This record gives sequence, structure tokens and C-alpha cells, in this order.
Amino acid sequence: MPVYLDYNATSPMETEVLDGMLPYLRTGFGNPSSLHAFGRVAREAVHNARSQVAEAVGCQSSQVIFTSGGSEANNLFIKGAAGYLKPGTIAISSIEHPSIVKPAASLIRAGWLLRKISVDAEGLLDISDAESALSSPSSPSCMVSVMLANNETGVIQDVSKVAEITRSRGAWMHTDAVQAFGKIPLNFHSLGVHAMTISAHKICGPKGVGALIVDKRLALMPLVEGGGQESGLRSGTENVAAIVGFGVAAMRAKNRLLNYARHVECLKKKLESALQDMGAVLFSRGAPRLPNTSYFSFAGIDGGTLVIEMDRAGFAIASGSACASGATDPSETLLAMGVSPDLARGAVRVSLGAESDDSHVADFVTALKAALRRLSTMAAV
Ligand SMILES: Cc1ncc(COP(=O)(O)O)c(C=O)c1O
Repeated sequence: MPVYLDYNATSPMETEVLDGMLPYLRTGFGNPSSLHAFGRVAREAVHNARSQVAEAVGCQSSQVIFTSGGSEANNLFIKGAAGYLKPGTIAISSIEHPSIVKPAASLIRAGWLLRKISVDAEGLLDISDAESALSSPSSPSCMVSVMLANNETGVIQDVSKVAEITRSRGAWMHTDAVQAFGKIPLNFHSLGVHAMTISAHKICGPKGVGALIVDKRLALMPLVEGGGQESGLRSGTENVAAIVGFGVAAMRAKNRLLNYARHVECLKKKLESALQDMGAVLFSRGAPRLPNTSYFSFAGIDGGTLVIEMDRAGFAIASGSACASGATDPSETLLAMGVSPDLARGAVRVSLGAESDDSHVADFVTALKAALRRLSTMAAV
């Protein structure tokens, strides 16, 4: 069995999550909108899961809008807000996930001004650039989206600070917390944002379910219209079993957070000390980062080739962005940080999880040394 070290791409579903879901794929198959007993059972299950997710992220149940995942929740915020607001400035960081970048870019056709806020060499947002992005005299600020933690580098942004600036300009503030949820403490209210995206499959829940947490004073235009489920913001019969799994996974992620963070941080330190001895360039080492994520390059070694070599050796890691694996373009995030295209092309990411252990890290380091020797010999030939 290969060793899985790609938890930022997705995570294995836990037994307790599956056990929670199974009854709703069998006898509890009702439609939550039905008036009869079958409907009531399903409705209660969705209601309960909504409370669990709300408790895990520090918001009210009524603020949880279930979607098909993080990508849809990001689209719902950007396109949903644009459906109500007059065109103005939309500001996003230069290292956002494609599910923010693409809908934001699509607004240009409707007369919006898209402003990308720069990051420094460590991948941290330039707060003064954020301020200037929101001060365009010709275009009023309307929307800002800055991710809480980056999927590649793991860098954690000061989202509360950006939210403060955004609110002072009367604009709407969103954060993509897909990678932060379950890895660092997360509280919707203390972040001070208007909306926040989360996803179940990054916290050992099922794929195909996520949520937009939203301040109910915000008027959003739904992406999917129909029966009016999810407060009219996301029509369609609910994926009850997946939503139930999300609720269980959310509570488990919240309850184990401290132990999890201590565990993966300790493994990460061991890994990074070995990587440093091997001459790796470690990205964003000087910034606050997720406890489980290491992102690095070896000069002259292609990241995609190294991932394939490590796969052959029995280790699953990622090159560049996990969602764009297979792409040969250098990572946009690293380019935005000013990393040279050659070094960026070499980037590989190890993201640890609750199931990772000392032997995984030690065996990975041994296999990596062997892979680097092979690749250097091949390059020399
Ligand atoms: C930061 C970030 N946002 C959004 C997403 C998309 O989430 P989903 O896979 O649930 O659509 C991902 C997935 O990798 C992500 O890392």
C-alpha cells in the first residue's frame, strides 16, 4: 500500500463518517422537502448536520449554505454578489484558487475592475497593496476575497486585518478557508468576514459537499434556481448522506484539532530538517504556515518527474497545485512570490495528515534521496 502524503489534495474518509452516512443511503433515503415520516427523518438529519458544521466554524446554523463543494461555494459568493452589486472593484489575492480566479475574471466582461493584491517573497499578502487596491478613485470597492491558507505553501494570511480594511470601505469580504478548516482554529465571527468557504473532503469527510457560510444581511443571487432549498441560495434536493458525513467530519475535525496540529507539526519539523540537509529550497519558511504542509524544490529537478519517481517508490505527493496536477506550467503562487520559473517548475508538496507517522517521514526521506540520485545520474547522462 503506497504511503499517502497528499492530504491537501483530499483526505481519506473516516469510518465514523461513513457509519454516519450509511443509514441515509439506505432506509433514511427520504427527500427533506417531503411532509411524511421519510421526509422528516432526512430533514432532521440535514438540520443536525447544519448545527454541527455551524458549531465547528463558529457561526449560526442559518448561516450555513450547503453546496457541492468548495469550488461551488467560491463561485456562489463571487457570482452571487455580482448579481446584486453595481460593477466596481473586485480585489483578490494573487495566489487564490482557480475557483476564485476564474469567476472573478469573468466579471471583467460585465464592467468590473479586477485587482490582484500582491504577496511578498514568503507568500504573505501585502497589506498596503490591499489598501491601495480598495482606494481606486474611479471604481468603488465592492468585493474582496483573500484565502485564509494557501493550498500549496500553506501560508496563513491575516484575514481579520483585510476584513477590517474591507469593511471600513463598505465592501464585502470573503475568505476561502477550505485548507484552513480542520488544520488551524477557525471562527467565522472572529475573522470578521461576510462569507467563508469550506469543503468536507479536506477534513476526512465525503467529496462533493461543502458550504458557504454567509452573513444573512448579504444579498446573493443563487447560481442554481428551483425549489428554493438552502434559503433559496442553492436549489436542488439535498445530498443528505454527504451532508450528514460533513457534519460528523466537522465535529471530529474540531475536537481533534489540538492533537492533530501538534502531531503533524512535529512530523513536519523532522521532514523539513532532513530536506534542508539535502539542499532543498523550502518555500515560505519564514511565514506562518499550516502545521501539515511543506513545499520545496531541488535546483535542476523537475517537480512532475520527481512526483512520478516518488509514486514508483510508493509515496503519493503533489507537484504545483494539487487541483492542477498534471499541468506543466510553473505554479502561479510561486511566480507571484517572485520565485524563478525554473525553481517553481521543481516545486513539490508534502501534506501530512492524522494518519501520517514517523516511519512514513523517515521512509519518505530515504526514498527521496534515492530518487534524487537516480534523477541526477539521468540528467548527467
Ligand atoms: C484553497 C482551495 N479552495 C477551493 C478548493 C476547491 O474545493 P472543492 O474540491 O471542494 O471544490 C480547493 C481544493 O483543492 C482548495 O484547495
